[in-house]
Amino acid sequence: MIYLDNNATTRVLDEVADAMRPYLTEHFANPASAIGAFAGLPRAVASAKTTMARILGADNADQLVVTSGATESNNLAIQGAARANPRRRHLITSAVEHPSVLEVVSFLESTGYRVTRLPVTADGVVRPVDVQAALSPDTLLVSLMLANNETGVIQPVGKIARLVKDRHPAILVHTDATQAVGKISINLRDEFASVDLLSFSAHKFHGPKGVGALFVRDAISIAPILHGGGQQLGLRPGTENPAALIGMTTALAALTAQTGRYGAIEGLRNEIQRRILTLHPGAFALGAAVTRLPNTLSICLPGMEGGDLVDRSAAAGIAISTGSACAHGANKPSHVMLAMGLSHAHADCCIRVSLSVETTPRDAEAFLNVIGTLIISNVAV
Ligand SMILES: Cc1ncc(COP(=O)(O)O)c(C=O)c1O
Repeated sequence: MIYLDNNATTRVLDEVADAMRPYLTEHFANPASAIGAFAGLPRAVASAKTTMARILGADNADQLVVTSGATESNNLAIQGAARANPRRRHLITSAVEHPSVLEVVSFLESTGYRVTRLPVTADGVVRPVDVQAALSPDTLLVSLMLANNETGVIQPVGKIARLVKDRHPAILVHTDATQAVGKISINLRDEFASVDLLSFSAHKFHGPKGVGALFVRDAISIAPILHGGGQQLGLRPGTENPAALIGMTTALAALTAQTGRYGAIEGLRNEIQRRILTLHPGAFALGAAVTRLPNTLSICLPGMEGGDLVDRSAAAGIAISTGSACAHGANKPSHVMLAMGLSHAHADCCIRVSLSVETTPRDAEAFLNVIGTLIISNVAV
């Protein structure tokens, strides 16, 4: 199988599995137990968090709360902020967020919060002036994703965070950076110095599933949403999982060391886009005029059905997807594409091709052969 569905999940790198193994089979004691302390597990956990903090430009390891993945991180950020500061009752987000943000704000809305869901341009970008216009004295939080999972479009989150903080330092800025971490450089001291909360998930960058983190600049800005044994400064109680954390850190370090590879990956993505646009005269790529993740191509082929293309590609040994894993499962037109102004008919004819640092020119060529044959046989019909 040639795997071009890396925005859904990625293969665990061999070095990641190797780094995790001793913590599953040998050093498996509870890090909070006496024997865990004797085996040095708290030190291993602290060291892994310190490495992640260094890579992301966080000030210290305690600012990283390890979670079960980005869904939990987004819940902790948004619900945790609401619990910590119940007087502020207004939330700002965008129409193109992942359901793990949209569903949380809808839940809070059902309990009485006001929610502003900002529109996006035809290229899928939130306009900073719209954020500015939406800010109100009781705004609790602005939650905007850094990179979209379907289109790869990158939002001007650093700029928007500075704009929010310059005018209203008490308003929190959260970004769901799940698709960005490991693909583009993230510096919480520089470009993202005004971001308070940042979510990510290891399985999107060749780490294991079921582990992620929330960067929390200032611990008092959120309250826990789970209660229990008080681990992780009480912000996320539950027995810590050293194997998962070490897997996530190893993957992040490995990907960060390979950022140079993304130039080549972007070249492959652009070549796939160029060739499909040539093969299908009506085709158009989403977000192609703005800054996108280097690995992502969302492309619409009018007259062809996205789900059908995904199935036929799978039958030919190639994994791609329609909008997102969830949208495909739910068989609904993508809310991201509708927000970008696509008709239902056009939204139904899009596919997503998402490459990884492991994708080779030969993989791209194999995919182009398959999609080329499908396009030509469709045109001939
Ligand atoms: C942008 C974005 N946010 C959040 C998530 C949820 O991540 P997880 O699977 O770790 O809960 C995903 C996964 O598809 C995503 O793409």
